[in-house]
Amino acid sequence: MKPTPRLRYSRLAAADRRHVWHPFTQMRNWEREPFPIIERARGNYLFDVSGKRYLDGVSSLWVTVHGHRHPRIDAAVAAQLGRVAHTTFLGLSHPPAIELAGRLAGIAPRGLNRVFYSDNGSTAVEIALKMAFQHRRQRGERRRTRFLAFRNSYHGDTIGSVSVGGIDLFHSIFRPLLFDALFAESPYCYRCPAKRSYPACGTACLESAESLMKKHGREIAAVVVEPLVQAAAGMLVYPADFLRGLRDLCAKHGILLIADEVATGFGRTGAMFACGKAGVSPDLMALAKGITGGYLPLAATLATEEIYESFKGRHEEFRAFFHGHTYTANPLACAAALANLDVFEEEKTLERLGSRIPRLASRLQELRNVRIVGDVRQEGMMVGIELVKNSRTKTVHPPKERIGHRVVLEARKRGVILRPLGNVIVLMPPLSITPREIDRLVDVAKESIEAASEN
Ligand SMILES: Cc1ncc(COP(=O)(O)O)c(C=O)c1O
Repeated sequence: MKPTPRLRYSRLAAADRRHVWHPFTQMRNWEREPFPIIERARGNYLFDVSGKRYLDGVSSLWVTVHGHRHPRIDAAVAAQLGRVAHTTFLGLSHPPAIELAGRLAGIAPRGLNRVFYSDNGSTAVEIALKMAFQHRRQRGERRRTRFLAFRNSYHGDTIGSVSVGGIDLFHSIFRPLLFDALFAESPYCYRCPAKRSYPACGTACLESAESLMKKHGREIAAVVVEPLVQAAAGMLVYPADFLRGLRDLCAKHGILLIADEVATGFGRTGAMFACGKAGVSPDLMALAKGITGGYLPLAATLATEEIYESFKGRHEEFRAFFHGHTYTANPLACAAALANLDVFEEEKTLERLGSRIPRLASRLQELRNVRIVGDVRQEGMMVGIELVKNSRTKTVHPPKERIGHRVVLEARKRGVILRPLGNVIVLMPPLSITPREIDRLVDVAKESIEAASEN
């Protein structure tokens, strides 16, 4: 006899608690609290094992682009499955990866012509760091061994990407293991370290990066930055002038610019890439998350021809880039990525966002009147709602209150999946979200914040 949905849930939940260890999760809490078990999805919705439907308000952690089970991407993955699921990229190549490299080079900011594949955002950044480092050495610039990053930055969880991470909560415990990066002030306008406001400040926060470059310029191989939004720190949206100013400073000091577009890439800011939106061309660019439309793990590090050329030489010189992963350029993932780009063209996804983004912006205004909302930040379809105990003094909620988590539980009751970043509630819906769903997402976020602040 088939178990009832309730029995099935309890069996699965018990088995999860017995064997699974979830990411970024205090498992003691996990073991005590109920959690949805997602069984299937369609469009902008997820369905749990009891059949309850949830609007996917965070694009399944910032990956889903055109909705779940998009027929075009489903078909592309199925067709590729009928050919080959995996073949190594060491010593061999395959059509989807070849075609995808050309398409990525075609849509990337000017100059990024080379594509090196991997399988997640952390490795895409790690590869950019290693490429920059090796490039410098092969050009005889042996003193340029350091990296400049920003406070509040997040570039992933591998040791190299953690070394350039600036979120103490995630990163400080690992400090003894990390390489010594330089950290400049973060462009966090709501809590501006200089207590100034944009545009009157003239992006004064960039001075911190500038003075580090003046002092250490000749030791720095590259700067790594999340363009336009420091996402994992709580969707810290900053002005394009800051990014353009950083590009100019890099050029002046002969420093490479690595843009980490893992979160911002593939339409999230309303443009294909945040760098393109700001009119900035980096020397290296890391892509992952939305690259496959949210279907399969794939990442790419794009590089200029100049960087690529410095790795060429006679075999016995050993200038090759000694880096690779077993699933580098997995064909199923590349097929999904190609279909993802096709859907952008066929459904005119970016053009359609032209009206959705202002709608989201106007609905978000209502949140500003909620007592515990300190700041509402938006860049395209990326939104951060910073909760505070007192909006005049900007006092933060202590961690033990778990205010973000309480909001998420309220939203879940109302059929919307959200995910907090500390005291910041993130909204990052799939680009396929409809105007009515935008209204619902914002309504539920508002109700949930109000409910969590009352109990
Ligand atoms: C800007 C940025 N870089 C890198 C990463 C790491 O990506 P992954 O989780 O795929 O390793 C993330 C993940 O959130 C990110 O937001």
